[in-house]
Amino acid sequence: MTAPFLAARGIAKRFGALTALSGVDLDINAGEVLALLGDNGAGKSTFIKILAGAHAQSSGELLVEGAPVSFASPKDAASSGIATIFQELALSENLSIAENVFLGRELKRSVLGIPFLKRGEMRKRVDALLTELDAHISDPEAPVGSLSGGQRQAVAICRALNLNAKLVIMDEPTAALAVAETRKVLSLTRRLAERGCAVVLISHNISDVFEVADRMVVFRRGRKVAERLRADTNPEEIVSLITGAHPDVRALERTN
Ligand SMILES: Nc1ncnc2c1ncn2[C@@H]1O[C@H](COP(=O)(O)OP(=O)(O)OP(=O)(O)O)[C@@H](O)[C@H]1O
Ligand SMILES: [Mg+2]
Repeated sequence: MTAPFLAARGIAKRFGALTALSGVDLDINAGEVLALLGDNGAGKSTFIKILAGAHAQSSGELLVEGAPVSFASPKDAASSGIATIFQELALSENLSIAENVFLGRELKRSVLGIPFLKRGEMRKRVDALLTELDAHISDPEAPVGSLSGGQRQAVAICRALNLNAKLVIMDEPTAALAVAETRKVLSLTRRLAERGCAVVLISHNISDVFEVADRMVVFRRGRKVAERLRADTNPEEIVSLITGAHPDVRALERTN
């Protein structure tokens, strides 16, 4: 057995008097799409912000490939191979696709001490990534402001791939998308996993989740209340785990 790409052990997060997360144990494996489900306020975003280095946990431990890590910032998480695509995407509208993919880590060469961008090389690399993702974007020089929501998601995914991410976390990537674009983003998600990436997907859309996820984890009131393989569950069960109507959750909540 190889270690999971990322393991969370006993993760808790308190914001003052509020306990947003407690005792979360979770393994995230390479090559799998893991869906994180739960009602509003269940702690999903807080949990992924800890994985992304955006929040420090109050207690508990994270291990990457079996070794304990401590993330002081998103940069630390990125250097461990963790890329997070937040819902707001954080792309720059007026920059081109290629510029967004390389933002902050542009390829440069120096001529007589003056730095020049290696535009051709960056463009080529972005072209290859877009083709590999089958993203149907013909011109990497186009400004991101001219793209649809689904195409922007594709650019954000390219950016993660360009960072050589081993874990890509997506918080509600399809919430604002139309049907066709949602399909595209879901298939990009699968392609990432097939490429050997671990993928964590937060979604409120149960049918999307059943389409792409290999495994599902349900959070409720800051706790992980269930974990299921897609093959062993169905949408009705997942909904009852989220709402707390499921007997397992009721039993768990009686003892707490
Ligand atoms: N920075 C913060 N300061 C104080 N409380 C916070 C902060 N971030 C989150 N919380 C609280 O932690 C709890 C969990 O919030 P979180 O955003 O993780 O939920 P979520 O599962 O992502 O919900 P949603 O589905 O609505 O996005 C909520 O009660 C929220 O108000
Ligand atoms: Mg959230």
